[in-house]
Amino acid sequence: MQDMTDFINQVKRANDIVDVIGNSLELRRSGANFVARCPFHGERTPSFHVNRNKQIFKCFGCGEAGDVIGFVQKYESCSFMEALEILAKRAGLKMPENISDEDHSQEKKKRRDRLLSVLRETAVFYWRMFYSSVGANARRYMENRGFSAETLKTFGVGYSPDYNSLPDYLTKKGFTYREMADSGVVQQRQDGSCFDALAGRLIVPIFNINNQVIAFGGRSLEKNPQFGKYKNTSDTEVFSKKNNLFAINNAKKVKQTSGLQYLVMVEGYMDVLAMWQAGFTSVVASMGTSLTEQQAKLLSRLTDRAYICYDGDSAGQKATVRGLDIFAKEGLEVRVMSIPENLDPDEYIGKYGKESFAQLLDKALPLADYKLKLLEQEFDIKNTNAVTRNDAISRYVKGALKVLSEMDDAQQQQYVKTVSVKSGFSEDYLKRKLAAHMRGEPVVVQQPVDTEMKALQFIASCMLCNQPYAKVKVPQCDDAFLSGVFRYIEGLKGADAFADMVYTVCPDATAQQYDSVLSHEFSKENYQKDKQYFAECMSLVKEHRLKQRRSELLEQLKTADEIASESLLEEIQKINKQING
Ligand code: UTP
Ligand code: MN
Repeated sequence: MQDMTDFINQVKRANDIVDVIGNSLELRRSGANFVARCPFHGERTPSFHVNRNKQIFKCFGCGEAGDVIGFVQKYESCSFMEALEILAKRAGLKMPENISDEDHSQEKKKRRDRLLSVLRETAVFYWRMFYSSVGANARRYMENRGFSAETLKTFGVGYSPDYNSLPDYLTKKGFTYREMADSGVVQQRQDGSCFDALAGRLIVPIFNINNQVIAFGGRSLEKNPQFGKYKNTSDTEVFSKKNNLFAINNAKKVKQTSGLQYLVMVEGYMDVLAMWQAGFTSVVASMGTSLTEQQAKLLSRLTDRAYICYDGDSAGQKATVRGLDIFAKEGLEVRVMSIPENLDPDEYIGKYGKESFAQLLDKALPLADYKLKLLEQEFDIKNTNAVTRNDAISRYVKGALKVLSEMDDAQQQQYVKTVSVKSGFSEDYLKRKLAAHMRGEPVVVQQPVDTEMKALQFIASCMLCNQPYAKVKVPQCDDAFLSGVFRYIEGLKGADAFADMVYTVCPDATAQQYDSVLSHEFSKENYQKDKQYFAECMSLVKEHRLKQRRSELLEQLKTADEIASESLLEEIQKINKQING
């Protein structure tokens, strides 16, 4: 058994870092070092240094640094083990059996290589057919869709003429029916004979991240619903739909040549082709499955920001959110792009052009905003009917609290503001509810009842008009507009208020809300009456608050253990006393 550390050192000694990097980048000598333009971030002037004596690289632009294995890992977007294997192979060293995992056993590897050869030959065959006379229809079809010769070349678009040409061709190349069937390119009949699985279709080859053909997507050129629009190679030893992303090989190339700020994830092959042609080269597609953890992992090898661009229908939206959570869990910063009119990216670019599409990218919503927007739509909180509106807002707030509870502190601060504006509840109120929700307590979201609202409005009126009896501490308040008013008064620290300032401190309120605190006429005759009513309002608000707290505590009591119950009861008794006093 060979020691792992020994083997790693052996591989490193056999692979001079300047030679290895020199194969991928244009290195220029500069003093004792070599320099190049950094492949890990886009730059014009070289700040990527390679040191032969120390056998390390470092980029002074982006900070990336490491040894020869680290370079390969980063450049090929692969694991440590894969990098080690690439370098071992390069130096003609054999990976010791005990450290290469099962997938790399010689037997399996040979078989895999054989299937990959079948797939590569098949891609070549389809490609030739596309440009031969039998491919004229397919070429015209793609031309009519506006795809350029360069785009078709880049993606290796091909054509399958019929059922038999492919198996015949592969037989001449020395492959068995068994190998063809195992690689998924043909299907076998009862009698053992074979036919091209994608016969008569336009072909889009699917590559893995190492630029090997692993499968094909075939689009029907007829509008016959009997043949599905697309048929893909079924899952094989080298391909599984849910582990792969279409065009991931291109994304890697883009990363190697100009750096990758983000990746856009779309649904269809044609969307990728259309976006690529319009200059949006950082794009991959999920091939019509719901997003998986493996796809998220694959994506996160290349970037830490993902834009998701999916169908706009509402069933699609729910599926999208689930997929997005999977992506967020892998540490990706997720943004959601919405395309109007239910168009896909290909159709949108065709209809409105690339500049317009770039704007949609700019307007993509961070995941949290997207989730809150969905809640807003789901519960229809702009609904004007007062009764159902209150109900809708309560549901919206409950849903929003759940979204907020998944954020870090800084984000919570920011989004509590958003939810406050949308729901009309004060930030304080929402923070209290959020804290309760995060402690796992049941949360009841209540609209302030009418009498309490009236009381608070009158208190605010007295304070805004500087009534002497109203120079007291402002009450706690769950309504966003009124708590804005109280915040203004509190900030004055006893100095006189200017009633008109409400328009400035609460710029988003409705005419009715302004009216509710500005319309009361104060007069000498009514002074005693107003003073009396003010005191009543203050105690009503205070009592209401205590009662609310009490019902929260009673709710908690239902699920509390013995020790917690005791302190809850104590607090409840205290509140009872205060209410009665
Ligand atoms: P779309 O129908 O949106 O694909 O399906 P598209 O690329 O926009 O197709 P065009 O523009 O009509 O040519 C999205 C993806 O779902 C998978 C394919 O991967 C497709 O690209 N799909 C779709 C299938 O696998 N089978 C189907 O029958 C349809
Ligand atoms: Mn389409």
